[in-house]
Amino acid sequence: MSPVDGAGVSNPNLPVDQAVTEGRVPGRREEEIPELHEVDCPTELQEQIEALMARYPDRKSASIPALWAVQERYGWCTPEGIRQAAAVMRVTPAYLESVASFYDLLHTSEVGTHRIEVCTNISCWMRGGDELLDAFRAAAEGEDVFVTGFECLGACDIAPMASIDQRYYGPLEAAEAETAIGQLKAGQDVLPAKALAVRPLAADLPGGALAGSDDSSPHRATNPPSSENADG
Ligand code: FES
Repeated sequence: MSPVDGAGVSNPNLPVDQAVTEGRVPGRREEEIPELHEVDCPTELQEQIEALMARYPDRKSASIPALWAVQERYGWCTPEGIRQAAAVMRVTPAYLESVASFYDLLHTSEVGTHRIEVCTNISCWMRGGDELLDAFRAAAEGEDVFVTGFECLGACDIAPMASIDQRYYGPLEAAEAETAIGQLKAGQDVLPAKALAVRPLAADLPGGALAGSDDSSPHRATNPPSSENADG
């Protein structure tokens, strides 16, 4: 069956969807791919993206981490940053823009220096996620802090929770929002007692599976989480 007219015979009077002839991924319009010398890509960013591409058989699979690297460098996926990544990856800027605009954790417009995602999905909502989001929005008013609601961040056991500069915190109370914003502004540790990174695992708690074992438990979370924990 023809994908154009659906009846087995192509109708020459109908426009052909570009996706039919070229696929849905706008990645190979050579004339639209910027050259490296045109985009002034910082060497560090170029090497970072090249290392990411080397992990995958198809370089386009590195699009999300490459865009994340752009965002980490510039604060958001700037048009120039996207062109730099596109030149390194040999794809069109339009392709990377389409990826960046799809994912909520990638920003295609300027946001604050600090980013807070408050989960409002079912577990967090039932435990006050909406009120928590309102409290963070009120506390961040006029500050260089981007606050947004978010769907499940994959840490329902600490509901209601939030991701603050890619670190997970919970269970949070609305009254702690102002404290968290103040600590962010002051460059202090944010709500250290609520950080997932220092939360003991169930197995380490009294009565847990490892009760009675020594403190060298490999299960204890002693290191800050990597940015990967924000991938949801
Ligand atoms: S519902 Fe909030 S982290 Fe899952």
